[in-house]
Amino acid sequence: MKEKRDDVKRESKTKTFGILTAGGDCPGLNAAIRGVCRAAYDRYGMTAVGIAKGYAGLINGDFRILRQEDFSGILLRGGTILGASREKPFKLKHDEFHNLVENDNIALIKEHYQKLNLDCLVILGGNGTHTTGYLLSQEGLNVVGLPKTIDNDIVGTERSFGFHSALAVGTEAVDRLHSTAQSHNRVIVIELMGHKSGWLALHAGVAGGGDVILLPEIPYDIKAIGKHLMHRFQSGKGFSIVVVAEGAMSIEEAVMEKKDRKKFREKTASPSIAYRVAHEIEEETGMETRATVLGYMQRGGIPSASDRVLATALGTAAADLLAQGKYGRMVCLENGGMGSVDLIVPANKTKTVPENHFMIDTALAVGTCMGIET
Ligand code: F6P
Repeated sequence: MKEKRDDVKRESKTKTFGILTAGGDCPGLNAAIRGVCRAAYDRYGMTAVGIAKGYAGLINGDFRILRQEDFSGILLRGGTILGASREKPFKLKHDEFHNLVENDNIALIKEHYQKLNLDCLVILGGNGTHTTGYLLSQEGLNVVGLPKTIDNDIVGTERSFGFHSALAVGTEAVDRLHSTAQSHNRVIVIELMGHKSGWLALHAGVAGGGDVILLPEIPYDIKAIGKHLMHRFQSGKGFSIVVVAEGAMSIEEAVMEKKDRKKFREKTASPSIAYRVAHEIEEETGMETRATVLGYMQRGGIPSASDRVLATALGTAAADLLAQGKYGRMVCLENGGMGSVDLIVPANKTKTVPENHFMIDTALAVGTCMGIET
């Protein structure tokens, strides 16, 4: 009988690895888990240990060996079969009197890493996850990272999985809001995720034909927005769509210290930026304005075909790194293909939208206001 290809395992420096998903969930996490584990099992005969709820599971000892059936049939599934959390193991701990107390997280992580006989820890996450991954590698652990986030703001990769699926949801929402805005002659402000970077708002705004797009990277001037909307109105367009990233801020807010900005926002009593901008537009123009916050709709559901492909490719590329014993790296999309960068590249950084990015000029060229006079 002809030997099945998978019966012969390729050589691998990694025998056992732990795998966790940390930070906010996003579409494509399960596709990536499947990509890593399938390739690691089928090609290399490795053992995968699933760690529950991100770094919290590594601290608390919450893990189990993954069997083939665990990562079968999960390609399309949203969320993460491993669970996720925003646990930051290196964060300083304080007691009830605000005194610094000893943080035993790292000792516990090392203890569990050794107890499980791990050769490497595979982390699926965004900026925070990779910062922690880098610090753990400095503590002597072998770490391999995969870039995931709907924000697409990880330094070192052309794209993270999750972004494409969230963009589809954001664009559909902008499309759908057009009809209500048009029927009622209203301005509708839609808030998309993106605390420090506006990739999602910029792309969904351009894809959906937003009339105004506001990003955290470009502090907005409400007077410029008002002028743009009034000009549209006077030229016969009675409605407008404003796409705003959750981290956007006005030029007045941009010069404030973080704590002063917080106080200032508390005074406005608006739950988020979309409501503040809607209120400011009404004050500035007198136009009837409404706010919609898309929230977790952007992070849920099945991944797009493009995200499934990217997550699978990154996952299998990560398995190859494990086999080669190339630790301390994040797999990435590079020149349209698979590559990897040192973990120090994404650590402690955010990929923001550069002022001269072609997409900003694209938006301006089709008459979109980017929140300031141009
Ligand atoms: O990191 C992805 C992200 O979706 C950000 O855009 C958003 O600011 C954040 O997560 C919200 O996180 P949480 O679910 O913890 O509130």
